[in-house]
Amino acid sequence: MIYLDNSATTQVDEEVLDAMLPWLRGGYGNASSIYKLGREARVAIEDARTTIASSINAHPAEITFTSGGTESNNTVLRSCLIESRLADALYVGATEHHAILAPAEELSHQGYPYTVLPVDSDGLISQDVLASHNTRRTLVSVMHANNETGVIQPLSEIRALMSDVYLHSDAVQTFGKIPIDVETLGVDFLTMSAHKIHGPKGIGMLFIKKGIDFKAHQQGGGQERNRRAGTEPVALIVGAAVAAQRAVTEMERRSTHMRSLVDLARQLIIDQISQVRFNTPITGCVPNILNVSFVDADRLDGEAILQSMDMHGIAVSNGSACVSGSVQPSHVLRAMGRPHREAKAAVRFSVSKDNTIEEITQAVAILGAIVRDLRG
Ligand SMILES: Cc1ncc(COP(=O)(O)O)c(C=O)c1O
Repeated sequence: MIYLDNSATTQVDEEVLDAMLPWLRGGYGNASSIYKLGREARVAIEDARTTIASSINAHPAEITFTSGGTESNNTVLRSCLIESRLADALYVGATEHHAILAPAEELSHQGYPYTVLPVDSDGLISQDVLASHNTRRTLVSVMHANNETGVIQPLSEIRALMSDVYLHSDAVQTFGKIPIDVETLGVDFLTMSAHKIHGPKGIGMLFIKKGIDFKAHQQGGGQERNRRAGTEPVALIVGAAVAAQRAVTEMERRSTHMRSLVDLARQLIIDQISQVRFNTPITGCVPNILNVSFVDADRLDGEAILQSMDMHGIAVSNGSACVSGSVQPSHVLRAMGRPHREAKAAVRFSVSKDNTIEEITQAVAILGAIVRDLRG
């Protein structure tokens, strides 16, 4: 198999697994327990918290462990509007992940209005729209980079235009891939996840800026300084920190490698496949994603392309959510103004540090053959 779907998830690194296993074997203590086994678990968690915090220039007390990006996103939206009462209204980018759009929609049914911020044809939030909004007591949620196209939003510019709002960013696709400094970005909240950077699934982090009176959405025991109840999954937390540490240490090398693969894929597609449109710009995006659609999409079935790729042993995806058995056009590409059919026939390559030139060459050659075949 050639695995080119690393924005969906990544393989856990051996070093990460090795660091986790002791906490699943002998080190099974509950970090809230006062005896040695519990104290050791507590130390491991707090060390991990310090590692995660330093990777985004935050203070350890500003990091809360959650079950993943989805929970971090849901918690911020719900807590800001309901439990913490920091805001009465919500603005969300049009190309956000469903882990933002779905809770925003649900909250609107509970009487908290939300406004969708439109994007331009590159997927960037239009800044004139921001400047003209009334932003009193508002939570603004704008993702750091998009999971389908890789486009990075200019968060610090958005912050400069909206100084009086609470600003949240879903950084699931940038954490460990590009430098993140929460102070420079100007965010109040930031969502992270470990499984996109060779860490385990089921563990995420939420940065909550110091000084914010944040009340828990999830309640129970007083874990995570009363911000997220539940016995801490020590092994997952340790794994997340090792994955983050490795990602930060190797960031430059990984980034150069991944970008060279993405650039190669782009060039090979240009050389071998006609009538394509790249939905990932050459600059201003994460190093590992390339999204391409087909201009003559009325003659191509997006689902058929992915299925044929799968039959050839290549794992790629598009952004289209499969709802009730039918593939829906990508809401990201639709928001960028792509026609309905084209938004259904996109292919997203997302590489990791472990992919090779040979894999990219083979995958593009097979994609070209499939597309030519479908075009007849
Ligand atoms: C941008 C973005 N946000 C949130 C999530 C959800 O993260 P998790 O799988 O950790 O819940 C994903 C995962 O695909 C994502 O790409």
